[in-house]
Amino acid sequence: MPSSDGRRLTVSVVDVAEGHESEVQALSTHFEAILIRKEYGRAEMIRDEASTLRYYAVLYWIDAAAAERCYRDPEVQALTAKLYQVARVTHVVNGVRRGDPSRLLLDDRRARIEPDRRTGFDRRIKDVGRPDGDRRKRDRRLGPRRVRDRAGDVDLVAAARRARENADAAFSHFKVGAALETGDGSVITGCNIENATYGLTICAERVAMFKALSEGHRVFTRIAIVADTESPTPPCGACRQILWEFGGNLEIELANLKEPKGKHHLKNLLPLPFDARLL
Ligand code: THU
Repeated sequence: MPSSDGRRLTVSVVDVAEGHESEVQALSTHFEAILIRKEYGRAEMIRDEASTLRYYAVLYWIDAAAAERCYRDPEVQALTAKLYQVARVTHVVNGVRRGDPSRLLLDDRRARIEPDRRTGFDRRIKDVGRPDGDRRKRDRRLGPRRVRDRAGDVDLVAAARRARENADAAFSHFKVGAALETGDGSVITGCNIENATYGLTICAERVAMFKALSEGHRVFTRIAIVADTESPTPPCGACRQILWEFGGNLEIELANLKEPKGKHHLKNLLPLPFDARLL
């Protein structure tokens, strides 16, 4: 083991979609080769003895900076985007950031993220609702629900572009892809699925959000939305409501197949929202 201090090891659970085992094997072999060639570290895929579709990806980083470079590497991001199409990746250990000064970046990011409106938002803001002497010592808005425990940003737009290829838009021929980033750095994608009754059509953004919720994710940081249009394709009203309800003031990255088309914050796209605070 190159390191036992717990600071250079990343472990992820990789649940492979049935029928895609060899694809994941090929991706991980490719990934392992990149890690060695570019001197980021080395990787190992360990199969779960109890489940043929579950692997543990163990990454041994040379050091924290190498991990950072690796996560920012476009070649790695392209591979990761492919992996997210055929596997669900849950990060279980990410020691890279521990004790790392670049963690300040994380705190800065957290500070910019809105508190969770659905669990005690007002009480936290106004510091009311608790007897004197029983107030929280720290600002819970910087608490664990919004931690983004991952070294480097994933290319969400690339993931959304790939997800878009799966869109079922037989009626409108308007394909949309979405990629939602969760608090632990996982990426959950979605595409629009149309229906002959039209009204049962569901947008890419809601597919991504419902998939994520059904997998147990509850903390979200960003969503990328991709369509093949010159002008940006923002989320429809229904999706804004759902994204707000479960994701809060998400960062929204719009893009087409070639280039970015702007970044927004959801609260600006959904002013005066209705939500659980009003019930
Ligand atoms: N659509 C989305 O998936 N997301 C959006 O942000 C806008 C619209 C889908 C719904 C429908 O399948 C098609 O695009 C045309 O409205």
